Amino acid sequence: MSDDRLIVAMDVGNALDGLKLAERLGDAVSFYKIGLGMLTGGGLALANELKDEHGKRIFLDMKLFDIGATVEAAVRGLASFNHDFLTVHGDPYVVRAAREGAGTSQTQILAVTILTSLDRGDLDNALIKEGKIPDLVQERAGFALEAGAHGVICSPQEAALIRALPEAEGKLIVTPGVRPAGADLGDQKRVMTPAQAIAAGADHVVVGRPVWRAEDPRDAAESILNELSSPQATSPNTTIH
Ligand code: C5P
Repeated sequence: MSDDRLIVAMDVGNALDGLKLAERLGDAVSFYKIGLGMLTGGGLALANELKDEHGKRIFLDMKLFDIGATVEAAVRGLASFNHDFLTVHGDPYVVRAAREGAGTSQTQILAVTILTSLDRGDLDNALIKEGKIPDLVQERAGFALEAGAHGVICSPQEAALIRALPEAEGKLIVTPGVRPAGADLGDQKRVMTPAQAIAAGADHVVVGRPVWRAEDPRDAAESILNELSSPQATSPNTTIH
């Protein structure tokens, strides 16, 4: 089994393209993130096939948000597949409902703090209280973890702040917004390299385009894995998950 600290975001068009990508990556990659963009393209079937037929770990990035009863029902259904991670928004009542829905499933609930695409102006428009984004992210992460989240999703730049919270002890920090040195940033603005993200306290890094858009995706994944095996990529989180 390869180093599952690397999660490859499968933001390809449909399940068929996803399967082709997984075949090219072979045993180099053991953990995949499947998100909303692929929901209508057979994403759930792909997730189940990768898990059941290929032994891969699965992160379902659904970012659920609704009244508690609806979140609970949605998570109950999704958690029956026993995927590894499922995302919900980090509002404490949403997290509590998700934990209720997950029951005894092995699916771990990860809370989205504040989407990394939002800036202060967006938060003002959403009537979210004043304060700097990293401080709000840290506070929101603390509330979500207290409410029972198994971990949080955040920018690597906020990982150290969250790792410092007592509530974060033994909890997972998963960071998108990761770029190998020299890679095209795309629309990601606040990035760190994979090794930097792990050193800042992340347990897993999510990388999409630098892998699936590469001419040789396996080669791209392997160079990230090499970076992760360097001594710079040592997590301050000593808990074994
Ligand atoms: O291609 P790239 O490496 O930028 O992909 C990052 C993945 O992580 C995408 O699937 C994106 O939707 C997701 N993501 C993100 N920022 C967040 C939450 C999720 O980039 N705050």
